[in-house]
Amino acid sequence: MPPDIAAPDVAVTAARAELDRLWARGTAFLGCPVAIMGGAMSWVSERHLVAAISNAGGFGVIACGAMGPDLLAAEIAGTQALTERPFGVNLITLHPQLDDLIRVCLAARVGHIVLAGGIPPGAAVRAVKDGGAKLVAFTPALVLARRLIRSGADALVIEGFEAGGHIGPVSLMVLAQEILPHVHDVPVFVAGGLGHGEAILALLQMGASGAQLGTRFAAATESIAHPQFKQAFIRAAARDALPSVQLDERFPVIPVRGLVNEGVRRFLRFQAETRDRFQAGELTKESAQLAIEHYWAGALRRAVIDGDVENGSVMAGQSVGMVTAEQPTAEIIAELVAQAVAALAARHRAA
Ligand SMILES: Cc1cc2nc3c(=O)[nH]c(=O)nc-3n(C[C@H](O)[C@H](O)[C@H](O)COP(=O)(O)O)c2cc1C
Repeated sequence: MPPDIAAPDVAVTAARAELDRLWARGTAFLGCPVAIMGGAMSWVSERHLVAAISNAGGFGVIACGAMGPDLLAAEIAGTQALTERPFGVNLITLHPQLDDLIRVCLAARVGHIVLAGGIPPGAAVRAVKDGGAKLVAFTPALVLARRLIRSGADALVIEGFEAGGHIGPVSLMVLAQEILPHVHDVPVFVAGGLGHGEAILALLQMGASGAQLGTRFAAATESIAHPQFKQAFIRAAARDALPSVQLDERFPVIPVRGLVNEGVRRFLRFQAETRDRFQAGELTKESAQLAIEHYWAGALRRAVIDGDVENGSVMAGQSVGMVTAEQPTAEIIAELVAQAVAALAARHRAA
């Protein structure tokens, strides 16, 4: 066989082996062949998408969101009926029944619990660890990474400002430079704005053990998101996914990234009206703040489930620009892996 025909296969095989070495710590930790986690997305990350991600070799994560213990138990059982592969559960630390939710996960033998939405309370960390599950936590800075590891986190996720949903102020590229060179005790997964395998590869080469993606999976075939929600993702460019805007520093707004729509524009007007009513003495500061916080209640469900993408909350990362079609989950994962392998193989050939 002429060398120019045989050569690419050799390069691809070597590249795939190198990718497997690069994310070996992540795959060992997750217990799956591809160190790509499906970032938990409230309303979206339920049994079908979670099982599809795990069945495709990645690691699906159920978003508990506001679910109570019974609903969560049913969702875990439903997922276990669809996959024999490992998957995790994401719990919000502010949930009033956090302890019960942890018990539900442990009773169902969920191996990985992701605690999101703030620094996990000590009692929750102990409950997860004592119950034999692995604890995954988010860190927004190096000092907190160190503290989380000391308190028992088995893996960390660093999520950049580019991500969909609730966001911190720092980009993934800056977090990666700040944290990856200094954290060696536990695997670190990177998230936010990732949509292409070559970017994942670059972060693995910087020391990450794997990646977490949300937006690209939200538009997957197996995602139960409404067709209008998926179409909004397919139409959108990166610049359409913007953080929520706070009008007045006296009334803080939690930063959330999503597609700009009529609901977002109305939120600005609502903040202005609420502030004016406070200044006119019609509302106390507390009731004005509460009104602003309640504006988005139920809005994610309205967009994801009902398909009201004009008035609902269409949370999306800047990676939404890389969603170009509704694709089966297995195809998305295979594409990400192939892109990373192709980039590595091209470098081998050029060397
Ligand atoms: C629609 C949507 C809902 C989300 N809901 C949650 C959530 O409930 N809990 C959580 O920890 N992260 C949530 N996220 C963040 C994702 O888990 C993931 O980290 C993020 O989407 C990664 O960035 P990417 O969207 O650019 O891939 C959500 C993201 C989206 C797009």
